[in-house]
Amino acid sequence: MGLKSKMLVMVMVIGALGSAPLMAEAQLGNIIGSLLGVINVQGVVYCTADGNIGTINATSTPVFPNAVVQLQCGNGNIVSTTTTNNMGSFSMLLNPLQFLLSTLLTDCNVVVRTPLINCNATLPSTGFLTSRMQFVGRFVQDGIMEIMKVAPNLFTFISPSA
Ligand SMILES: *[C@@H]1O[C@H](CO)[C@@H](O)[C@H](O)[C@H]1NC(C)=O
Ligand SMILES: *[C@@H]1O[C@H](CO)[C@@H](O)[C@H](O)[C@H]1NC(C)=O
Repeated sequence: MGLKSKMLVMVMVIGALGSAPLMAEAQLGNIIGSLLGVINVQGVVYCTADGNIGTINATSTPVFPNAVVQLQCGNGNIVSTTTTNNMGSFSMLLNPLQFLLSTLLTDCNVVVRTPLINCNATLPSTGFLTSRMQFVGRFVQDGIMEIMKVAPNLFTFISPSA
């Protein structure tokens, strides 16, 4: 979607919301942000010693369901938290008005907080997984919403003594 049509949508949204009294400014920003675009941080956590998909028989690599996943930025600031589903996948939607894509890629990590022992009794009961993120691409949904997909690039296991 071009800048012109984005501006048009924004004007229409502001116009429509003008008639809704007591709309908080932040709320207005969220509505406009989510109408025009959203950043989707998504990925799959695997039930392996390093959280990554196996290389030998990738399709049979077990996943890590019900794992708490955090988006941490800067000095460990928790910006978003979610849980993997039964397919091991997670998704976090961020408002691009609040997060610069470039900052997300240089300053943030996806951190898996639930210990690996929860998905496999032979894996560690302490430590955590962490990964930087990479930009996957831009996708347009329903002809109006731009989704900027971001995914963890490679998890590393951090042991508590490290
Ligand atoms: C890979 O995994 C599939 C699905 O579980 C299985 O059918 C196949 O035998 C495996 N292949 C090897 C080489 O382990
Ligand atoms: C649990 O982890 C061990 C060590 O990585 C692995 O050998 C085993 O196959 C895993 N078990 C299951 C059920 O995935």
